Amino acid sequence: MCGIIGYVGEQQAADVIVDGLRRLEYRGYDSAGVAVVNGGIHLRRAVGKLRNLAKSLATEPIEGSLGIGHTRWATHGRPTEPNAHPHVVGRVAVVHNGIIENHLALKAELQAAGHVFASETDTEIFSHLIDRALSQGCTLEEAVRAATAEVEGAYAIAVLDVEQRDRVVVAKQQSPLILGVGQGETFCASDIPAILSHTRDVVFLEDGDMAVLTREGFEISRFETGESIERPVTRVQWSAVAAEKGGYKHFMLKEIHEQSRAITDTIRGRVSLEQGDVFIEELGLSADDLRSMRRIIIIACGTSWHAGLVGKHYIEQATRIPVEVDLASEFRYRDPIVDERTLILAISQSGETADTLAALKEAQRRGARAAAVVNVIGSSIARTASNVLYTHAGPEIGVASTKAFTTQMTALYLIAVRFGRLLGTLDADRARVLLRALVEVPGEVSRAIELNAGIREVAHRFQHVTSALYLGRGLLHPIALEGALKLKEISYIHAEGYAAGEMKHGPIALIDEHTPTVIAAPRGPSFDKTCSNLQEIAARHGPVIVVGDEGDEQLESLADALLPVPKTTPWTAPLVTVIPMQLLAYHLADLKGTDIDQPRNLAKSVTVE
Ligand code: G6P
Repeated sequence: MCGIIGYVGEQQAADVIVDGLRRLEYRGYDSAGVAVVNGGIHLRRAVGKLRNLAKSLATEPIEGSLGIGHTRWATHGRPTEPNAHPHVVGRVAVVHNGIIENHLALKAELQAAGHVFASETDTEIFSHLIDRALSQGCTLEEAVRAATAEVEGAYAIAVLDVEQRDRVVVAKQQSPLILGVGQGETFCASDIPAILSHTRDVVFLEDGDMAVLTREGFEISRFETGESIERPVTRVQWSAVAAEKGGYKHFMLKEIHEQSRAITDTIRGRVSLEQGDVFIEELGLSADDLRSMRRIIIIACGTSWHAGLVGKHYIEQATRIPVEVDLASEFRYRDPIVDERTLILAISQSGETADTLAALKEAQRRGARAAAVVNVIGSSIARTASNVLYTHAGPEIGVASTKAFTTQMTALYLIAVRFGRLLGTLDADRARVLLRALVEVPGEVSRAIELNAGIREVAHRFQHVTSALYLGRGLLHPIALEGALKLKEISYIHAEGYAAGEMKHGPIALIDEHTPTVIAAPRGPSFDKTCSNLQEIAARHGPVIVVGDEGDEQLESLADALLPVPKTTPWTAPLVTVIPMQLLAYHLADLKGTDIDQPRNLAKSVTVE
């Protein structure tokens, strides 16, 4: 779960690389390094955030226009300087994202042959294997190919050879890697934002691809067979600015504010209010396909799993097909009952989460039809699923997911309506009502943000709490889970999300005057029941923060703090109710001074199991 970048061109490679790594820091940030070829290999590495590396390079620059760089999230070996990438052995320097599964066997073999290891990483294996092949007379391309034949596992690597000073050679197997095509310069990177300020023309490499990058361009081949292969150049529409903070203190705050736009973009062009229908042909499912499905299984991790829980309600209500929602990490190891009459829906912002990808492949292996809801175009999950519905959230940089979550729920809402229409379980009138409610959501989200302009005051009152409960019912139960997750992730305050009806079966014992409960209670089908929970908490002196309808006097009189949201419908309530929860977590974390965009121990894209 690291970020890699490579550059060959006219510019100072170290500058391009550090700039790119800054945009990849979300992938890991416990150490970073760069290697530039200029005469010899010039290596610079630093433990901690990228700024430490940047400072060192500013004090003592490295010149040269051919280089590679890395930002690390440790998997093998502690975050120390010797373990930071690039790993230089003899003539070569290597950066790697992924995990080499047979590293112990390979290391023992290399050590027995006299190789001495300078780090505890699995990556160094690659450096030794490639250097050995070079010393036997291989070209860099041949040496990389030879190494890939021995290594098992996941990797995206970029390699430099001090004696072949016009090229970077890369290879990809199960870890993301793209190429960027510029004028007289070529890039590789783990993700698009790293190169977006230089070029929008990208090539998505496939598993088993390797490429030679020179100033003039690139050549791709399959590393198993050596045969050349063409991959299309795709023009990415994201602007470089979209991947920047745009004046906000944190990416997370910017991304919370972008939700109205992101939801609009996800709905755009897909809804006909007149026909009461949704156009998402990209999902590729006909009415007959759906009729043949006995059930749908949603697989995802983290926040995407919470979106899946909301999706279950939508899809079951619209189609009457049973929907299960499984954690990808559990699904793949429990011998799941899956066949060709199962539809799998994988949900992932990054499209790279290792467990989700593996669960998806496992389901496909068992004959299931698999579609995906993904944000990152061309990502591994998007390419593995037979069909993809993209959420158009744009790049999400803050580790705590916000706009990806609301757009995932939007996409699932669209899927539910489409499936219901295809099956005839939803008539055009009901679909029209649902879709009218959905197109109101972007405005309601903006209004929810406006209404909570004073939320920092609420955060002030509760900034010293050490534990909090989050409650919600029905469609708002997943929102309680998500609210609690947001608080944990960025403020490090312990929080638990619960179905409000379960409160009496345990969590009520936690309630005292120091433990606030955040309750999702907009007016809707279970409002009265949730109000009873609220009173039970108040009777035990527990502070209550309610997310409820603006102007709801009953709630105002009962709650210690009301976080208002505009009145909305039951189906759209999750999309609107989550907004104050995101903001509350953000402000509590900001008051505590935590590293909001890169919270400790977390990473945006979990590409290891
Ligand atoms: C990590 C991120 C979460 C995300 C989860 C699933 O834990 O920190 O924000 O929800 O992975 O990621 P995905 O990209 O598959 O949605």
